[in-house]
Amino acid sequence: MGNDEFVSWYADVSLLSDVARRAAAYLHDAPSRAVTPSESSIAALQGLAGPFPDSPSDPHEVLELLDRYGSPATVVNAAGRFFGFVNGGALPAAIAASWMVDAWDQNVALRIMSPTGAILEEIALGWAREALGLPTDCDGAVVTGATMANFVGLAAARHALLSRAGWDVQNDGLFGAPPLTVVVGDEVHVSLVKTLGLLGLGRRRVHAVAVDRQGRMRVDSLPPLDARTVVCLQAGNVNTGAFDPAKELCARAHDAGAWVHVDGAFGLWAASSPRYRHLVEGFSDADSWATDGHKWPNVGYDCGLAFVRAPQALQSAMASSSAYFVPGQQREPSQFTPEMSRRARGVELWATLRSLGRQGLASLIDRTCALARRFADGLRAQGFEIINDVVINQVLVSFGPPDLTRGVIERVQKDGTCWCGGTEWQGRTAMRISVSSWATTTNDVDMSLAAIGRAVDACRS
Ligand SMILES: Cc1ncc(COP(=O)(O)O)c(C=O)c1O
Repeated sequence: MGNDEFVSWYADVSLLSDVARRAAAYLHDAPSRAVTPSESSIAALQGLAGPFPDSPSDPHEVLELLDRYGSPATVVNAAGRFFGFVNGGALPAAIAASWMVDAWDQNVALRIMSPTGAILEEIALGWAREALGLPTDCDGAVVTGATMANFVGLAAARHALLSRAGWDVQNDGLFGAPPLTVVVGDEVHVSLVKTLGLLGLGRRRVHAVAVDRQGRMRVDSLPPLDARTVVCLQAGNVNTGAFDPAKELCARAHDAGAWVHVDGAFGLWAASSPRYRHLVEGFSDADSWATDGHKWPNVGYDCGLAFVRAPQALQSAMASSSAYFVPGQQREPSQFTPEMSRRARGVELWATLRSLGRQGLASLIDRTCALARRFADGLRAQGFEIINDVVINQVLVSFGPPDLTRGVIERVQKDGTCWCGGTEWQGRTAMRISVSSWATTTNDVDMSLAAIGRAVDACRS
């Protein structure tokens, strides 16, 4: 095949109309499909296997294969009844922006490669910073998720604290460096601990502070802090949704010269709702923050955000250049991120925030919290025990003995009306319900409550 034929395929934009038609059909059918794909549709994915083809294929044919085999084997995250993990649903404007980003094929490493990508990212970061109630002087980075956002915030912390101690960690690494102490709560998210390993700070070296029954760090259990300590707070525990007492913890840490980092993967967005803003009181006093666009704001995968109060610390930790890769005078995106080549994720964030506006974002937060309460009330009414304080969009329910709860979770997942995961919370087995999608309706919650009730009956009989 000659190059001309490839180019003619590229110029054939009917492929994009075809994908739009197929994607629309997928989304149209999503609410009536089982949330989990059938075993047979997963097995059928082997239709996409086989040897690496010798010759090129028509893109229409590739798309047809993807839709025929791929679509039925997806988990239906796009409708309103997936309540696992903390998965948001992608808003229509986010999906549309993602398609534009794909068509534009921008590399947002340097402004010169993508003025659109760089400038929209700056605007979106500014809007997000405002929605999260963070200080106006902090800068940020758009990354792949809260794990990487935690990595970015903690890399800035590591740089700043060691630099104050006269050590250049970027150039000299950690061998022989003054030791840093990292303080976390006992219910720290596993992804933050993972980043400590990646940063050479050690997963096991953390000092874990006792927490209360909701997973909030106990101020009276803080160890002595100093100017070589990073204190990691949580805004929104992945199980209970609880918030650490940030005001007091930030004051204690800053009095000692310590750095405060916040993992606010989803909970930090409570700041955008007048009704829930009180929960994030004090978190804006921190030094760095990690959150996700793809969780509560429903940006679509993948989109994480890191913010750092001292942009210089962030830039020093992330900047790089070479003879062929020369940052310009204005803000250069890749000087704030671990990646060099980057998708224009800021565009999807921009489109999502532009489409929601301040009121839309607040109402997304309020609505999902109200639906979580509806779940909790409905489960209590059926005689089940809610084991967390439902402060935002997370619900933990026990159906009795651990085996019964595990059995119910398995049945609910197989039934396909909705999807809920399991967890262990302070020695108790529970089902987790996270209401994080714009698409969830009261009817979705009621259908799910009925499905859960049926699963309990079946397990008891
Ligand atoms: C509190 C918290 N931190 C970090 C993460 C990791 O986020 P991501 O999967 O976007 O990397 C999560 C994911 O649920 C979370 O709840």
